[in-house]
Amino acid sequence: MIFYFTATGNCRYVADQLAEKLGDEARSIPQEMRRAGELSYAGETIGIVYPIYGHMMPRMVREFVERAKFDTPYFFLVLTYGCRHANAVEIAQEQMRAVSIEPAYISTLLMVDNWLPNFDMNEQRAMEPGKRIGENLARIGDDVAGRRCWIEPVSDVDREAHAQFMSRGIGFEPADLGNFLCIDPQACTGCGICARVCPAGCIHVEEGAAVRDALAGQGCNACLACIHACANGAISLPMGEANPQARFRNSHVTLAQIMQANETDE
Ligand SMILES: Cc1cc2nc3c(=O)[nH]c(=O)nc-3n(C[C@H](O)[C@H](O)[C@H](O)COP(=O)(O)O)c2cc1C
Ligand code: SF4
Ligand code: SF4
Repeated sequence: MIFYFTATGNCRYVADQLAEKLGDEARSIPQEMRRAGELSYAGETIGIVYPIYGHMMPRMVREFVERAKFDTPYFFLVLTYGCRHANAVEIAQEQMRAVSIEPAYISTLLMVDNWLPNFDMNEQRAMEPGKRIGENLARIGDDVAGRRCWIEPVSDVDREAHAQFMSRGIGFEPADLGNFLCIDPQACTGCGICARVCPAGCIHVEEGAAVRDALAGQGCNACLACIHACANGAISLPMGEANPQARFRNSHVTLAQIMQANETDE
């Protein structure tokens, strides 16, 4: 059983590939979180694939591991990232230990960086071949299929990189996200795609235009799924973007698959 959280498809692609290799199934964390009652999973292998946000777990992934019970002899994590993982592996290990899980295997995987404030998606796409994603994913697949026990090493330089990031005060917690996104009602056609890709149900369409719920900061994960999926450029980041015209979705993943992974019934 492989769980994933995705905004722009990288983690869905990785989870699907690993599931195929293991003859297992990939399950969306937002969909699992919508189930009522206890979340309890047992299997020979259980893994989670997630994108690092400021080197940390997305909030919904953290809430999922806090809520779920896992029974497996082999627990693994794959952390996708686009530029700098810092000590994400150590942070993940600590968060899993807090819920009494000792992962047998943790690896990062360099992919396209979808963080719009710092990166132009056109440049990111051009850099993709150099990241050797297929090769690195095949290595991870072999590791997991062979039940390798390995935790990617973390250096003092990695720890320092995270400390520097934290000192800049960029946060992805609810209190930081009240004014995270801006929706332009003039550019919005009311198509509702943004609402359907939001894993946290933060957006709805009202009178033909997308509206971010007043308390959206409460649920928003800062994942950027909505902004990347809007074909009309109607959603932007007030903090600024490297290229407001360029958006990204993993080339192996369809918009329908992102919606299927994240859509709520509301
Ligand atoms: C809020 C946010 C924070 C991010 N922080 C980092 C980071 O600290 N380091 C990094 O290399 N990539 C960072 N990224 C990039 C993503 O981790 C990366 O693009 C990931 O593969 C996206 O996965 P997805 O397509 O499944 O959503 C960040 C992206 C977002 C949206
Ligand atoms: S995806 Fe864009 S155009 Fe469609 S409803 Fe959302 S903001 Fe409006
Ligand atoms: S509002 Fe946008 S950034 Fe926030 S959780 Fe929903 S899709 Fe992600």
